[in-house]
Amino acid sequence: METKMFTAKDLQNAADLIRQGELVAFPTETVYGLGADALNETAVKQVYRVKGRPSDNPLIVHVEDFDMVKKYVSNFPKVTQTLVDTFWPGPLTLIFTVKPKTFSTTVTGGLKTVAFRMPNNQQTINLIKQAQTPIVGPSANTSGKPSPTTAQHVFHDLQGKIAGILDDGATQIGVESTVLDLTATDGIPIILRPGAITKKALEQVIGEVKVDEHLLSEKETPKAPGMKYKHYAPDVPVWIIDGDQATFKQAIAQAKKDNKRIGLFADGDITKQFSNEVNEVFTFGERSVENATKVLFAGLRTLDEKSIDLIFAQAFPETELGIAYMNRLKKAANQNIFKNNSIFE
Ligand code: TXA
Ligand code: MG
Repeated sequence: METKMFTAKDLQNAADLIRQGELVAFPTETVYGLGADALNETAVKQVYRVKGRPSDNPLIVHVEDFDMVKKYVSNFPKVTQTLVDTFWPGPLTLIFTVKPKTFSTTVTGGLKTVAFRMPNNQQTINLIKQAQTPIVGPSANTSGKPSPTTAQHVFHDLQGKIAGILDDGATQIGVESTVLDLTATDGIPIILRPGAITKKALEQVIGEVKVDEHLLSEKETPKAPGMKYKHYAPDVPVWIIDGDQATFKQAIAQAKKDNKRIGLFADGDITKQFSNEVNEVFTFGERSVENATKVLFAGLRTLDEKSIDLIFAQAFPETELGIAYMNRLKKAANQNIFKNNSIFE
């Protein structure tokens, strides 16, 4: 199958394909999604097949507005309206108990709940409107690989396997939405996956919010089925460098002693300082966790294509957006962290 590249002018074409049960990747503010008609079970099954996604990992249903959710959910927790008014459209996915038999078990992974999100991207909102159906959308990467933040990343992973890709340039945030479960029996919302909408931002508007235990301790089983799988990993091993220029210097010296070819993902000052000592660099420019998060997956994908033996990636403090950034980076690095004076194992 030829994978067509669509832009805003081809929206009706893309919407028709969704209606016909085809797969079309779509842009959002977080990462690109792999779109299919959420009410067409055959199309949804194809999403799993194309991605190589485990079938117990449920999908997010993308909606054009909150009214669309009301068709599938009869009882909303009290905090819902405030959350929707404050954060939609935006990078916040909300999990509700759904009416029985509304979505197939392929969408729900056999759970009684479904995740909904209204993305902050006008083209995708229009796509949902014109397709006249909610659209499932896991990240549009091959399962296990870094999520796609450009249409080209999607094309790289899925060309020939899907009908089209709606191209709206690079995404703004760079990591997937915060997933918030509103179905806990004690009524307190739980963050199952950290994203750009932080715990602090949520608590400012709805009061107490919990964090899924597995995000705090490796031993717990995650409540979001998808969080247990290997994720975001390039083929080249990744090491997180947790420290200043001196720490980078130590890490680079050690790797060079072992004749390792190094790729560096770091801020402009660090990549500049070490550009002659490493083999490849990818910089996110001025040092900020927003800048780093925005191109984290692009950086890992780009460096993965180079002929290097390892990637050194810069750590950020685990506060605010840094929690989401480090969550993705630790998975990519399989928890490998280099600190002052530590050694590679
Ligand atoms: O930003 C995003 O959320 C992107 C864009 C495309 O919208 N989508 C995305 O989808 O990241 P995906 O499928 O890669 O991740 C969905 C996550 C998984 O960890 C999944 O297990 C969890 O949400 N999830 C979905 N439905 C759930 C449910 N009913 N209960 C618990 N976790 C759920
Ligand atoms: Mg994903």
